[in-house]
Amino acid sequence: MAYKAPRGTVDILPDKSSQWMRLEQLLRTISAHYNVKEMRTPIFEHTELFNRAVGDTSDVVSKEMYTFEDKKGRSVTLRPEGTAGIARAYVENKMFANPEKLQKYYYMGPMFRYERPGNGRQRQFHQFGVEMLGVESPYVDVECMVMAVTIVEALGLKDVKLHINSLGDDESRDAYRKALQDHFRDSLDQLCHDCNERFEKNPLRILDCKVDNDHPLMSSAPKTLDYLTESAKQHFEKVCELLSDLEIEYVVDTNLVRGLDYYSHTVFEIISDDPKMGQGATVGGGGRYNGLIEELDGPATSGVGFAFGIERLLIALGNEEDDEEGIDVYVMPLGEEAKDLAIQITTMLRANGFSCDMDFMGRGLKGQFKSADRHHAKFSMIIGEEEVKNETVNMKENATRSQENIPLENIVEYLESHMEGE
Ligand code: HAM
Repeated sequence: MAYKAPRGTVDILPDKSSQWMRLEQLLRTISAHYNVKEMRTPIFEHTELFNRAVGDTSDVVSKEMYTFEDKKGRSVTLRPEGTAGIARAYVENKMFANPEKLQKYYYMGPMFRYERPGNGRQRQFHQFGVEMLGVESPYVDVECMVMAVTIVEALGLKDVKLHINSLGDDESRDAYRKALQDHFRDSLDQLCHDCNERFEKNPLRILDCKVDNDHPLMSSAPKTLDYLTESAKQHFEKVCELLSDLEIEYVVDTNLVRGLDYYSHTVFEIISDDPKMGQGATVGGGGRYNGLIEELDGPATSGVGFAFGIERLLIALGNEEDDEEGIDVYVMPLGEEAKDLAIQITTMLRANGFSCDMDFMGRGLKGQFKSADRHHAKFSMIIGEEEVKNETVNMKENATRSQENIPLENIVEYLESHMEGE
């Protein structure tokens, strides 16, 4: 039987992983600039957490979760997103008691959704996400959005736009819910089975139905902004004003409702029109979720955050040539005794902070030089019978092709002086 990776999963091979590491490093650096600290939560959680936090009327929970029973019959789920786990950890670890009210966290790692795989859509994918908890202020919404925009700008992504909308507070959403039910009530027979269920439970979810997407009732549906309470309207206006003052370009997109149930007030997405991804692909999204911490039995605490799909960021970045990092030294023993010496030298070099490798196959010089080349080694160190006898090595600097015999005790000094300034 030939084994294949499960559908919707991808191996990230070494020729791609350096691009991943560079992106991850950039995301960590930007997080440090925003004083956002890393939080690592489990990859699986109790299923109930996602039902309550993300909401069981969302597609993510009702159709896309990897849920199974563990050996004791408890239902657990591979995390489909990161916000629920962070919120759970915030409550469980009593982070709300921290005298520093605004807590800012970031996370990076695999997420799992049983979706139809396609360009930029996988079953195991990776997110970089940020959550800012504890302070309800439009300034924090904007702090989040500016951070997301900074990331796409630092990556040099073109053809991306920030779309924003507001769902308002509980009162606004109740009014909007009723307006949506009035709008769809007489045409339920034209909508899919799921939408009929959503009509009672959560009519907002009708708007992101993939089946009824093109139904004319969708575009004529009432808009959230017309149902905002006065204070929700003020919150949103302040967000827009701050974005304009900071000269962040955005469009108010009244169709934006997001697919997860925990949102309130500001929601936003970063949408790319890069043809590599297909028109209108979302590279990242987020919003405010003021009821979530309470829903998870914590004290009333507001929150706002966003997440990017790392694979989508990489698609938008394009296939950069991967200039592979070379090693400092490739050690080339000729004969058994030389091999014993070579393993001593490689161990010593690594302990001194040099990167190196050696031939383990007892090949001739030609094959070993080829490997030195393939590993982009700065130096090739040849150890033949003579060298073993004289306790020396033959060091070749590959860029200049200069060659020298060096006593064993001088190897580190030689490398340090030849690599100065690197
Ligand atoms: P989301 O919109 O469900 O939000 O996902 C965020 C991003 O993850 C998407 O914009 C997309 O780039 C990426 N993504 C989602 N599903 C897939 C997939 N199957 N394959 C590849 N990439 C995917 C959330 O997850 C929220 N937790 C964001 C958030 C944080 N809201 C507040 N705080």
